[in-house]
Amino acid sequence: SPSDPDLVERARAAKEKLGDKVFVLGHHYQRDEVIQFADVTGDSFKLARDAAAKPEAEYIVFCGVHFMAESADILTGDDQKVVLPDLAAGCSMADMATAEQVAECWDVLTEAGIAEQVVPVSYMNSSADIKAFTGKHGGTICTSSNAERALNWAFEQGEKVLFLPDQHLGRNTAVRDMGMSLDDCVLYNPHKPNGGLTVEELRAAKMILWRGHCSVHGRFSLDSVNDVRERIPGVNVLVHPECRHEVVAAADYVGSTEYIINTLEAAPAGSKWAIGTELNLVRRLANRFADQDKEIVFLDKTVCFCSTMNRIDLPHLVWTLESLAEGNLVNQIQVDKETESFAKLALERMLALP
Ligand code: 13P
Ligand code: SF4
Repeated sequence: SPSDPDLVERARAAKEKLGDKVFVLGHHYQRDEVIQFADVTGDSFKLARDAAAKPEAEYIVFCGVHFMAESADILTGDDQKVVLPDLAAGCSMADMATAEQVAECWDVLTEAGIAEQVVPVSYMNSSADIKAFTGKHGGTICTSSNAERALNWAFEQGEKVLFLPDQHLGRNTAVRDMGMSLDDCVLYNPHKPNGGLTVEELRAAKMILWRGHCSVHGRFSLDSVNDVRERIPGVNVLVHPECRHEVVAAADYVGSTEYIINTLEAAPAGSKWAIGTELNLVRRLANRFADQDKEIVFLDKTVCFCSTMNRIDLPHLVWTLESLAEGNLVNQIQVDKETESFAKLALERMLALP
């Protein structure tokens, strides 16, 4: 839907008034009405890397979700303030691993006598607490664009990996990209005693996958892939690695949001694509490439937007920018010092991956 011209003008004016004091980051899943005001757009990795790119900016307005804003706070200077335009923009996947549950899991691994062999690898889509746990126990963060490199690094440090919180990214990377078997992976259920696993199962596993998933990507199914192939002969199926294993196994291409964009940019005219990721991005790409004769469709019409990404809308952005322009610091995301120091260790290990 076209943005309200009055709100567009107010956002523009407030941003102009702030000038170099503000740096706006936008994740690819953000609405068009918001993304038009981003100074930098990117996938989770690019936004983490670029968060500190403008140290003179007093305010970093993060158009994305809570864990991304936390990561930006961790990676930027104390004098830079990170702001999330709607504090209710969380991530249901990140919420699936709490600090208490992960501490309990570590106790289970310790009791089984394997904790010393385990290296935690946590997906960016996790709270600062989980990142701090990861840093404390010698592990690294990863995103969907470097999960294989992160796992290779982790298996140089230890024999087993505890992968948090997205079971699908963990399984897909291990099996599709690294040649492990499904039997090398076990699923740790935080709602069951001992994760629902026996000591023997834990000792035999190479990958201990946390039972978390993305509520959006989890809805694409093997039927979605089969149906679109039937409907559009010759279609290329391109999905995000947060999709379920059978979807990823049936797809032609798999990668992060940035990879999806780059792949479509490089695609020849006349090619057809079905994309399995968040709808704002798919729509934007379909419009962008329509005049280049690239047909781009959503992998499954019954799947919807990420509701928390969508909480950041133009009214919230206008309110945020106008408040900051008037000198009112609103919706600051601030990670406490102790958590920050360990979480930073884990994030810096990711940024240093070869
Ligand atoms: P990427 O942008 O890293 O592909 O992540 C997708 C996602 O789900 C972010 O929440
Ligand atoms: Fe979280 Fe999925 Fe939304 Fe990304 S798309 S923010 S993983 S719920």
